[in-house]
Amino acid sequence: MQIIFSTGDITASTADAIVNAANSSLLGGGGVDGAIHRAAGPELLAACRELRAGAYAQGLPVGDAVATPGFSLPARWVIHTVGPNARAGQTDPELLASSFRRSLEVAEELGAATVAFPAISAGVYGWDPAVVAETGLRTVAAHPARSVQSVEFVLFNPGLERLFRSVWEELAADRGTPTSGTGPEVAG
Ligand code: APR
Repeated sequence: MQIIFSTGDITASTADAIVNAANSSLLGGGGVDGAIHRAAGPELLAACRELRAGAYAQGLPVGDAVATPGFSLPARWVIHTVGPNARAGQTDPELLASSFRRSLEVAEELGAATVAFPAISAGVYGWDPAVVAETGLRTVAAHPARSVQSVEFVLFNPGLERLFRSVWEELAADRGTPTSGTGPEVAG
């Protein structure tokens, strides 16, 4: 599986599925959640409301993930996940790992080949971006890929992209593997 890093707006991503750093209400918000809802159009909120009227009446739990169509987005699907909120005392890295892991599991269920992640919980939810990078990369690297061929981390500024790349190089060095070749390779 390929791991890609880029700087940009995830709503422009042409990946099969983009991951939304949502909140448990699934009814939109600021940050990447707000951007995705704006770009997808009102049908996305309607689809989320249907989820709330059905299986997710209590909202989407922290660390879980659920998909909707992408509607007006270039991406075919949006995978909504709720990262842990450090400002609310949710500081267990396993919750953050679960958001990445469940998003990948949902992507496999969809049969998505390409998935784009933002830096989940690194904004409003106040997590250290370096911890988000390490947690996300470890989870992606450990994922038993089936239909997912590539995972792109779409970072909102070049500094964040540099951070993710350096964390990946450290992880690869720890594993004694070059950052390209065996295991997920980095491209782009
Ligand atoms: N594309 C890519 N990344 C983006 C975009 C975008 N269009 N907009 C913001 N980001 C980045 C932020 O800079 C940050 O690095 O996404 C990362 C996650 O930040 P948030 O969107 O604030 O998400 P999070 O920290 O998980 O907080 C989620 O914020 O927006 C609300 O409804 C959301 O309540 C939820 C909470």
